[in-house]
Formats: sequence, C-alpha cells, structure tokens
Amino acid sequence: MARAMPQPSFFKRLFSHDVAVDLGTANTLIYTHDQGIVLNQPSVVCFQKHAAIGRERVAAVGKEAKQLLGRVPVNLEAVRPMRHGVIANFAAAEHMIRQFVDMSSTRTRLGRRPSFTICVPAGATQVERRAIREAAVAAGAWKVNLIGESLASAVGAGLPVSEATGSMVVDIGGGTTEVGVIALGGMAYSGSIRVGGDQFDLAIVNYVRNVYGVVLGDQTAEHVKKTIGTAIRDVPTERINATGRSLDDGLPRTVQLTNHDIAEAIASPLAHVIGAVKAALESAPPELVTDIADAGIVLTGGGSLLGNLDRCLSDQIGLEVRLADEPLTCAVRGAGAASAVLDPHAFD
Ligand SMILES: Nc1ncnc2c1ncn2[C@@H]1O[C@H](COP(=O)(O)OP(=O)(O)OP(=O)(O)O)[C@@H](O)[C@H]1O
Ligand SMILES: [Mg+2]
Repeated sequence: MARAMPQPSFFKRLFSHDVAVDLGTANTLIYTHDQGIVLNQPSVVCFQKHAAIGRERVAAVGKEAKQLLGRVPVNLEAVRPMRHGVIANFAAAEHMIRQFVDMSSTRTRLGRRPSFTICVPAGATQVERRAIREAAVAAGAWKVNLIGESLASAVGAGLPVSEATGSMVVDIGGGTTEVGVIALGGMAYSGSIRVGGDQFDLAIVNYVRNVYGVVLGDQTAEHVKKTIGTAIRDVPTERINATGRSLDDGLPRTVQLTNHDIAEAIASPLAHVIGAVKAALESAPPELVTDIADAGIVLTGGGSLLGNLDRCLSDQIGLEVRLADEPLTCAVRGAGAASAVLDPHAFD
C-alpha cells in the first residue's frame, strides 16, 4: 500500500527554496514542495541555425520540440540532450534546463536562487555527475544535490525506505533501468543497465525493417509500443497500422502489426531488464531478499507501463510484482520528499 508522502517541516518549507528535478532521458519533471509538479515535458530542445550571425538560438523545447523530432526543416535541429540518463550533449542540456526552469517559474523566490535535488542513474560516472551539476548551476541553481533514481523512485512510490525491512524498486525509464534494494534509508544494492523504453522502440524499428521491409520513425515505433505493446505473448491479438518507408521502393507503406509482433520484437531488451532484476536478487543481502519475497517488487518509470510487464516479471522471477501509482512521476516526487526521510549521506 502506498504511504502518504513525507512532508518537510513548516520552517523548512518557509525558508528553503528546494526544487526537485528528474532530468530523464525521455522526460524532465520539476517539483516543489509548495506546488507539486510544476513542469513535465519531453527532454527535447530544438535549435534554429541563424546563418547571418553564425549562431543557434532555441526555437522550441519540450512537447513542442518533440513534435519536431525527425521532421525538422534544414535550418532547425531537434536534439535529445540526455542519453541513458546522463548528458550526451552538454550545450543542449544547459539550454533545455534553463528554459524548463524559466517555464516552471522556479528560478528565484524572494530573490534567492533554488537548491536542486536531481535524480541520477546509479551507473553515472563522476564525469557524468559533474556535467549534470554544472549544467544545473549554469541554469540557475546555487546548490545541487544528486540522488540515485531508484532511491528517489522508492520514496515516491511510498515504500518504507527508512525501515529495516528491505524493499525492491525497479525503475524502467527511457534510457536506463535502475534496480534498487533499499533498507534503513540507504541503498543495500543498486544496479543500473543502459536499457529502457528507447531500446524497446529501437527493437521495434529493427524488427519491422527485417520482417516487413519497412522503416518506421522512432516516434511511430513508440506509439505502437504504447498502444498495443505487450511483454507476454499468450494474450488476445490486438492490431495497429503503422506507416513507414518501404525498403523496396522508398515509398510510404502501411503495415499491420500485432501485439505478438511487438512481444517478439522487444524480447531481447526485455530479457536484459529481467536479467538485471535477477542479478539484484542474487546479489542483495539474503535477509533483505527474504523481505522482498514477502513484500514483492514495485515497478516505476514510464517503461513499466508496457502491457503485461508486471505479469511477465512475476512469471519469470516467481515473486509478486506491482506497478506503483503514477509511475512516471515517482522519481521527482520522491526526490522532492527525500530530504525529509533520508540521511544526508543518501545524497551525492
Ligand atoms: N504506456 C506505455 N507503454 C510502454 N512504454 C511507455 C508507456 N508510457 C511511457 N512509456 C515509455 O516510458 C519511457 C519514458 O519513461 P520515463 O519518463 O520514466 O523515462 P525517463 O525518466 O525520462 O528516462 P531515464 O530514467 O531512463 O533517464 C519512454 O520510453 C516511453 O516510451
Ligand atoms: Mg527516469
């Protein structure tokens, strides 16, 4: 059962200007104690090349920029600055964060710049962590704390993170899957693989190209996945039409795909996700594994919304698996509430 979100004290709420940021591969969310989620946008920024002055300016960010991905005219460039939960394009990330901070009106309060708590994948290197800090400072933060995404997600999912009982959370995002075992307010095990929803989309693109000879765009593949995607095959057939470019003649062609096609297409990245969960169960301290066997596993992140993923994991692992409430916002809500329930050493 999900618990009520821990709240910081009255004085902390009054005097601090803390902002939680989930800088995700697919989506960026910003959360404040007072207002809740103040921004939820795709992590995309679109630049316009200004030939006359030889510079670029930001033409669009977020939802508007995502609509332009893969379909921009020659003087525009749509960029996804994050890959596998870390910054792949620093300049683009800095512009994107700055715009999002402006859009969420969190840059200053009573003349003070905000302190950011940002979710990072457990597998992020020191260099990748420093890049995230620097981009946040450039975007207006005066102080940056980093928190592991699975720990933040566990707090956001309402798991009993401060108790001695072990809890397991699996956060499947756009570019990473984070597996965490949490007890006494800290990580007893954390694992991170660079596989998430993006790799499912790519697997669908490859499958449709190989089997049907049609090249789908990434966004079409994502739409197919979200509409009929399933992690298991023994379910009633569902169908969807998808249009791409024929490999034969280069012309548009529509193919009819079934949910069984999608299950087959994503089998390989899905096996990696299941492998990461099994590795966590094999490596976590035995007492905590006993707790997890009793309490089950909680799924968070947008990737966990894939049809029948909870059932698939449960069948493969033999434990109860359930989806958190609002899985797409667990990490940012948890990062916002974390300082009220975790020791300072939980932050980097
Ligand atoms: N209904 C759905 N079915 C399947 N996948 C979904 C669904 N809804 C969202 N997704 C996928 O969830 C992913 C985005 O999830 P999320 O916002 O948690 O990722 P992120 O936090 O940006 O990424 P990361 O944590 O890896 O940096 C995308 O790949 C998206 O396609
Ligand atoms: Mg995420």
